[in-house]
Amino acid sequence: MTGLLAARDLRAFYGDAQALFGIDFTLDPGELVAIIGANGAGKSTLLKCLTGLVRAPREAVHFKGEAIGGLPPGEIVRRGLAMVPEGRRLFPSLSVEENLLMGGLTRRPGPWNLRRLYTLFPILADKRKDPATSLSGGQQQMVALGRALMSNPELLLCDELSLGLAPIVIREIYAAMPAITGEGMTVVIVEQDVTMAQRVSRRIYCLQEGRVSLQGRSDALSREQISRAYFGM
Ligand SMILES: Nc1ncnc2c1ncn2[C@@H]1O[C@H](COP(=O)(O)OP(=O)(O)OP(=O)(O)O)[C@@H](O)[C@H]1O
Ligand SMILES: [Mg+2]
Repeated sequence: MTGLLAARDLRAFYGDAQALFGIDFTLDPGELVAIIGANGAGKSTLLKCLTGLVRAPREAVHFKGEAIGGLPPGEIVRRGLAMVPEGRRLFPSLSVEENLLMGGLTRRPGPWNLRRLYTLFPILADKRKDPATSLSGGQQQMVALGRALMSNPELLLCDELSLGLAPIVIREIYAAMPAITGEGMTVVIVEQDVTMAQRVSRRIYCLQEGRVSLQGRSDALSREQISRAYFGM
């Protein structure tokens, strides 16, 4: 098994309903990979299988050469995966800084700490004592991203960072990515905005109804190929 992470023939179920039908997915260290696909295609389910939130067979997911499928989420975080969940899921009763510190409870050695995050997103330093929920949507997304970085993961999985945000805010958040991958971190983004996904990623996987319908280098895929894979037309 080569690469940082490999999912092989990954199948996932919610009760009797099958959501993933044999996904093959690999990540090389330091790359940014985008997962695109229509609503219900299985993007979030794939991320949840990698982080232990949805059950996967042990051998279906390998991280740094070890089988991690189905391990408890906390154990997977300790091994170096972190997720920015869809909808951010901040702790509403906690301040910005307290939310960030929660992410550091499973602290691995690495470059990310409060000071570093406040340099990346200075607005969070200004608002560090404020309740997280008093922030704008974009600022809350920065907190969610920062909280995940605080564990110093080797692999960061981001589920729809841009959902509901204004284009200028989306650009601001994606502008932070080079500083993140620049440390050698591997990043996966789930992104509805195909143009943005293609612009910021090295490779793209398109999912359709629980299967990989297209994958390849972002700069080599045409809009036609992507549309066909996205909508199945
Ligand atoms: N908790 C759940 N219980 C039952 N079925 C679910 C659950 N979560 C997702 N599903 C189903 O699994 C399939 C994949 O859903 P998933 O949320 O992974 O899609 P997605 O690509 O992330 O979609 P979206 O773009 O809307 O976020 C869908 O058919 C969905 O209805
Ligand atoms: Mg989703």
